[in-house]
Amino acid sequence: MNYGQLDWGKTNRMAQVFRPNAQGEAHTVMLAVDHPYFYGPTTGLEDPRETILPLVPYADAISPAKGTLVYSLDPLVPTPVILRVTGGNSMTRREELSNEHIITSVAEAAKLNAVGVSISVYIDTEHQAQNIRNLGTLANEASKYGLLVLGITAVGAKLEPMVKGEGEGSADFDAGRYFAHAGRIIQENGADIVKTYFVDGFEEIREGIQTPIVIAGGKKIPEAEALEFTANAIAAGADGVDMGRNIFQSEDPVAMIQAVRAVVHEGLEPARAYELFGELRAKRA
Ligand code: 5RP
Repeated sequence: MNYGQLDWGKTNRMAQVFRPNAQGEAHTVMLAVDHPYFYGPTTGLEDPRETILPLVPYADAISPAKGTLVYSLDPLVPTPVILRVTGGNSMTRREELSNEHIITSVAEAAKLNAVGVSISVYIDTEHQAQNIRNLGTLANEASKYGLLVLGITAVGAKLEPMVKGEGEGSADFDAGRYFAHAGRIIQENGADIVKTYFVDGFEEIREGIQTPIVIAGGKKIPEAEALEFTANAIAAGADGVDMGRNIFQSEDPVAMIQAVRAVVHEGLEPARAYELFGELRAKRA
């Protein structure tokens, strides 16, 4: 794990989030539940207390926005929190999503005992300069408290179809090149951890980013496929996942997070992890 020259506080917070296995290799399974900050009552998180509470014991860290944290999480549970602090738009104005601001202050995040803060950074969109300024401001503030900054490579409405291989120009779009470019800019402007997507050309992303990398889950896909790309991402050098919908929208979220953990921390083959998912599910039925 490369923590660069982080100070004692940040190194200690990194060690809370990235947990070593029996071989001493540190990885993380973060549970992403920040979606309501722009989706509203997201499927599976309508009442997050029902969904999230049984998952928290299996998460190395959890990334909610403030509302979900204070209304749904038990302050006595010591799972590290990486608090979503940016916002400014909603899915009803998709084309404006990249117009983000810092909404929750770092002082507020520290008061809530977060170990870090997360921010979306929309590179190659019309608001990129504003987003990079948000990141720089946040990094400067977070540094005063030793809080970690998780920089999320976010794709706006225009880039999203290309990343998914849909629409005009997508045939020429090099997703690996784009995420390598965006992720490195996010590192250079102050992120301690970069969140990105597992796409073709991931080697180029890994090669160009020296911070720990966590992989977003993306839209809900069948459990076997989600476990497969998780295993491939870890094998290709990702340091963990920050996964949301593929866990909390699963047929069995508690079984799924345990299967994801087995892949990330124990290197379980995805086919075997899928069997484990089935076994845990049957046991809980
Ligand atoms: C947006 C985000 C999401 O809110 C979320 O954290 C993504 O999680 P998933 O894609 O696994 O549901 O990062 O940019």
